[in-house]
Amino acid sequence: MLDSLYRIARPLLFRLDAETAHRLVFAGIGLVPLLAGDRRPDPVLAVKVAGLDWPSPVGLAAGLDKDGVGIPAWAALGFGAVEVGTVTALPQAGNPRPRLFRLVDEEGLVNRMGFNNEGAVALAASLARLRSTGRWPRVPVGANLGKSKLTPNEDAVGDYLNSVGALRGKVDYFVVNVSSPNTPGLRALQDKEPLKRLLDAVVPAAQRTPVMLKIAPDLEDDALAEAVDVAVDSGCAAIIATNTTTSRPGTTGRLDQYGGLSGKPLRPLSRAKIAVALAAARQRVPVIGVGGVSTADDVEEYLAMGCAAVQLYSALIFHGPGLVRRINDELAARRHAAATRRGT
Ligand SMILES: Cc1cc2nc3c(=O)[nH]c(=O)nc-3n(C[C@H](O)[C@H](O)[C@H](O)COP(=O)(O)O)c2cc1C
Repeated sequence: MLDSLYRIARPLLFRLDAETAHRLVFAGIGLVPLLAGDRRPDPVLAVKVAGLDWPSPVGLAAGLDKDGVGIPAWAALGFGAVEVGTVTALPQAGNPRPRLFRLVDEEGLVNRMGFNNEGAVALAASLARLRSTGRWPRVPVGANLGKSKLTPNEDAVGDYLNSVGALRGKVDYFVVNVSSPNTPGLRALQDKEPLKRLLDAVVPAAQRTPVMLKIAPDLEDDALAEAVDVAVDSGCAAIIATNTTTSRPGTTGRLDQYGGLSGKPLRPLSRAKIAVALAAARQRVPVIGVGGVSTADDVEEYLAMGCAAVQLYSALIFHGPGLVRRINDELAARRHAAATRRGT
């Protein structure tokens, strides 16, 4: 049903500015659970990540649902976990539009949204409403936290702590995002000393809620490995690799827009940096692989490398709302076929 709607709507949506299309789709997001029906992923797909039970290894990456308005929809579409945000302590408008661009042939996106969001307090209120109305999903929900643009880097720790304070007890995990390219100075917080100061404050403040660190694919291998070590030493529960890239691999350079590149063209770089993150983590913490995942093969590849789970965002734009269920079904069929071959 949703896929038929998508097939009809796609040519129209793709003629609109990308953010206008996004807003149009979000206007109907409340209907998605009704249209999608209640079909859980096959139990064979269940994974545990940082102590949390994901019914599928495919999670929703941050940025699509910054204010947590569509959480039941993402669970209904088959995602095994939902990461909302990036949310900041202060509400903010983000960068001027246009700020989101499609590379249709390459299945890539370039964005410079700049953390447009209603703020951590507003997100906490929506999450509370979701719980009180019995619409909380049966998948883990994480809040991805960023620094407010108005807050200088020297005060970043306090800014993140304000968000943790607003959201503690309301989400299943936190993500410290120091890797988005569209907030000036944010990625400097990935350097050893500021990162250590930040995580040494956030992890205890989160109390029992696991804290994950999301890193950029533009870090040199040494710096990436160092960030992973800092995260492990500070008690982080997982690494999420990777965010978008400011580089323009392959033919994507023809889109003359600054911002972070995601989707298929990001995949080779993400894959390389995920390998670095896995080697640095040395199984002390799980790694969630993100970047250009659009098929069951892509998921299998990241899992075979050693990732505990994956996330995706851009592929949903190009392949529609049925994508995650199709991936789940394909993965489940392969698992069952493999079990039959083994005679189990
Ligand atoms: C429009 C857009 C907005 C994004 N916003 C955020 C964000 O707010 N916080 C974040 O950590 N990642 C953000 N991301 C990055 C994604 O979470 C993900 O790391 C990246 O897009 C790679 O995955 P993909 O190739 O499956 O899209 C955004 C990505 C896109 C395309």
